[in-house]
Amino acid sequence: MDAAIRNGHGMTKLDDLQFVAPDTAEVEIAFRNVTKRFGNLVAVDNLSLDIHRGQMVALLGKTGCGKSTMFNMISGLMAPSEGEVEVMGQQPFRNFNWYRGKMAIVFQTDRLLPWRTAVKNVEIGLETLGIAPAERRDRAMHWLETLGLKGHENDYPHALSGGMRQRVSISRAFATDAELLLCDEPFSALDEITSKRLRTEFARLVRENGKTAVFITHSIDEAFDIGDRIVVLKRPAEIAHDLRMSDSVSSEDREHIRRTIHASLAA
Ligand SMILES: Nc1ncnc2c1ncn2[C@@H]1O[C@H](COP(=O)(O)OP(=O)(O)OP(=O)(O)O)[C@@H](O)[C@H]1O
Ligand SMILES: [Mg+2]
Repeated sequence: MDAAIRNGHGMTKLDDLQFVAPDTAEVEIAFRNVTKRFGNLVAVDNLSLDIHRGQMVALLGKTGCGKSTMFNMISGLMAPSEGEVEVMGQQPFRNFNWYRGKMAIVFQTDRLLPWRTAVKNVEIGLETLGIAPAERRDRAMHWLETLGLKGHENDYPHALSGGMRQRVSISRAFATDAELLLCDEPFSALDEITSKRLRTEFARLVRENGKTAVFITHSIDEAFDIGDRIVVLKRPAEIAHDLRMSDSVSSEDREHIRRTIHASLAA
């Protein structure tokens, strides 16, 4: 396959990897010449990027490179200073309410309501969507069970470990059946083993349920575990690499990609 093309030094050129998976599905998220300024600071600089339906994209970059700013523009919390952000054909900042039930977010901290049990926390999004109590409960229980929390449905957040609380937030995101999942470093506060287990599970659930997902991370390992596509950002939110990671990319190529990403993040 294309990724196996070697240059004269026996190394894969990253450029050769850019078209491994053609982007044929419809565009779910489009950044068109997007700039975001905070006063004199340019957080995102003339960025263009299309994310297609069904892709699981890891946005990888160093701290301060503009990842959360991109995230906030996708989720409609912020408007771009220039250019356009379109999600499912609409502008998130202008049509915030249109996205109810279509977009689900997993944040870095679990953001559970401490006075509600696990199952009641998962039901929150479903209440907002006006789903009847019995169905709410069924769907919430199904997702808690899928995330390995059967028996903990009536526990309050304070009685759950950090990893379990993040499992509740993932259940909450999947329960609404939103087609787009947005995650801003959801597992970075967890220990490495729990984090790895959860992200692998998350990636499997996204694929099995045919979702589109954008996953922000500053960890190369995490990007590799999650991303069908890894977009490496350099400051300010410009694209350094855009890589398609199909299963047929050899482990040797993966190692080379990893080193190259590492070098461009360190630069
Ligand atoms: N609301 C804001 N007001 C002013 N400056 C901001 C604001 N939000 C972000 N910035 C600045 O924009 C730049 C990008 O910030 P952003 O939070 O998007 O980075 P990030 O890539 O998410 O970093 P991290 O990995 O640390 O979460 C930073 O220099 C930050 O200080
Ligand atoms: Mg951030």
